[in-house]
Amino acid sequence: MPQHQDQLQPKGELALQTITMPADTNPFGDIFGGWVMAQMDIAGAIHANHVAKGRVTTVAVGSMEFIRPVPVGAVISCYTHTLKIGNTSIRVKVEVWIKDFITHQLSLVTQGEYIYVAIDTKGHKRSIIHAE
Ligand SMILES: CC(C)(COP(=O)(O)OP(=O)(O)OC[C@H]1O[C@@H](n2cnc3c(N)ncnc32)[C@H](O)[C@@H]1OP(=O)(O)O)[C@@H](O)C(=O)NCCC(=O)NCCS
Repeated sequence: MPQHQDQLQPKGELALQTITMPADTNPFGDIFGGWVMAQMDIAGAIHANHVAKGRVTTVAVGSMEFIRPVPVGAVISCYTHTLKIGNTSIRVKVEVWIKDFITHQLSLVTQGEYIYVAIDTKGHKRSIIHAE
């Protein structure tokens, strides 16, 4: 059984929450996956910025899984937790959940891994261990 089918609660911290809008749909009327990925990148960056105590940049996106379509008008919540902290990089797991307006049941709709590198003011990588 895929791991998400028995996962009933979000894992991690609530990093970002917003409402899906008609402007962000694909040609079939659901929310465009690229828009969801952008929200996840922002949520992961907020998390990584906190861990690295400073500026970070996205260096890679790992596994992505689109589990179910996201409708217009849904409140989406991005939860984040750290998977790994390297010398300069942070791997963040981002889960996207939506809540049913009537039943309030939470559903995991998308999840992925985003990797960030801590950078200085010139955009050069910096050690996370030495972050103040
Ligand atoms: C991020 C950046 C500063 C890294 O500089 P770099 O000198 O090439 O860094 P390195 O290759 O040594 O990698 C730095 C860290 O990232 C990790 N990393 C690099 N590429 C990776 C990849 N594809 N997947 C996973 N981790 C990766 C390295 O393992 C290393 O981790 P560690 O220090 O924790 O061991 C540089 O590549 C950059 O500026 N990229 C553009 C970022 C950007 O514009 N992002 C926005 C995209 S819209």
